[in-house]
Amino acid sequence: MAYSLLYVSKTLLQPPQSEAQVTEIAAAARGRNAWLGVTGALVATSTYFAQLLEGAQPAVEELMASIEDDPRHMRVRIIRTAEEKRRFGDWSMVYTGYAGLVDRHIAPFFSSLPPGDVAYLATRLVGLMEEYARLPAD
Ligand SMILES: Cc1cc2nc3c(=O)[nH]c(=O)nc-3n(C[C@H](O)[C@H](O)[C@H](O)COP(=O)(O)O)c2cc1C
Repeated sequence: MAYSLLYVSKTLLQPPQSEAQVTEIAAAARGRNAWLGVTGALVATSTYFAQLLEGAQPAVEELMASIEDDPRHMRVRIIRTAEEKRRFGDWSMVYTGYAGLVDRHIAPFFSSLPPGDVAYLATRLVGLMEEYARLPAD
């Protein structure tokens, strides 16, 4: 079992460099995540980030403390934590490129939602991340 943490945030990266900058974030993340034994998935759109981190709780929390302070995004909201089997055990950080359609799955977390809706939408978002992770990279 692993501690898993799902957060969403608003990007402060500006096009046209933003896509390349996210690719850099993901590439830099892999080394540190592997060192910490953290796996997970990162989804980026032109507006939002969503990221699932999984591993030992202290490692995930240490990483999350860095990520929260990162000036490349704001309004970081942790929307779900759980003890569960790793979903992305084979990836120190899977990033599948810009995913514009995911916007509509992240946007609701920035409005006030009943906790039941947050839980339901968070489960759906994680499912989507798993779908994306299974797509072949181009
Ligand atoms: C959306 C987003 C996701 C990130 N994900 C990771 C990650 O999974 N692993 C990682 O080491 N750094 C990640 N970073 C970078 C960290 O915020 C931070 O810059 C890096 O870990 C260096 O940390 P330090 O400045 O505390 O040394 C991410 C940054 C952003 C904006």
